[in-house]
Amino acid sequence: MDVKKFIEEKVEEIRETVGQNRAIVALSGGVDSSTTTVLAHRAIGKRLIPVFIDDGLMREGESRRVKDIFRKLDIRVRVVRARREFFYITTANPEVKRRKFRRTFYRMLGRVARRYKAKFLLQGTILTDIEETKRGVKTQHNVLEQIGIKPKRFGLPPVVIEPLKELRKDGVREVAKELGLPPEIYERMPFPGPGLATRVLGRLTPQRVNIVRKATTIVEKELAEFKPFQAFAVLMSDKATGMKKGKRHFGNIIVIRSVESTDARTATPSQIPWEVLQRLQQRICKEIPSVSRVLYDLTPKEPATIEYI
Ligand code: XMP
Repeated sequence: MDVKKFIEEKVEEIRETVGQNRAIVALSGGVDSSTTTVLAHRAIGKRLIPVFIDDGLMREGESRRVKDIFRKLDIRVRVVRARREFFYITTANPEVKRRKFRRTFYRMLGRVARRYKAKFLLQGTILTDIEETKRGVKTQHNVLEQIGIKPKRFGLPPVVIEPLKELRKDGVREVAKELGLPPEIYERMPFPGPGLATRVLGRLTPQRVNIVRKATTIVEKELAEFKPFQAFAVLMSDKATGMKKGKRHFGNIIVIRSVESTDARTATPSQIPWEVLQRLQQRICKEIPSVSRVLYDLTPKEPATIEYI
């Protein structure tokens, strides 16, 4: 791909489509939405309204981090606090969880779009998202029109612009780098739109999300030196017996997932040194006392997927 030409073409396309109107973009701080935001900002400047929906399902310190990174690029991000809205998702069914997340997410975004009178919605949808949703692998939160859902249903602007929809993750990283985004964005591991909701099996409660958030921070820090394609923690829906101060204790189970991949279509488990896995277990059980077991997932994609939901 000729990255410079791609950027020129997309900037021009966005500029022509949006004209003198305003556009909204849901910025999560991941590489796809960050790249979309910078492309659109180049095209329409302050008529772009980047919105970070703080759904309570992000990693530690995320809204501050995103605001700070984009402030340095002279892009002002609006943070919308919407934690309460997302925790009514009580189902354990993975696809229903995804669909409920999508509905809540877009309703929030629709509300913000109306507030700013935005006529266009920009999304960082990539080719893999579209393919997997169409094939029924999963309900990708950012794929709508391709499966026949009209954005109007969620009160969103009628026109959706998806400048990255022909690219895969590796292509997006190249564009992000060329656009001058910092390595902490273009080298960052993918993080799914529905956030930690894809890593909590069973009921989604603030307490359960907190457990997986803390475990995720530990996993990301301890495995950073190996630069895996993606590494994270998952909270199982069941519990298991363990020992605590000599007494039996029915505790949570955390799974560590670390995979290697180029485009997320296939993945293999990372070969993590045994001592590192042991350190991870020790830290997780010590720093999150409700956890009594830590497991390492050995399953490639296929037969597994990368995420658990
Ligand atoms: P799976 O779990 O299907 O994931 O093997 C493949 C890649 O996609 C990411 N993923 C998502 N990204 N919205 C996103 O933006 C989503 O709903 C979503 N679900 C999964 C996942 O992290 C992996 O990199």
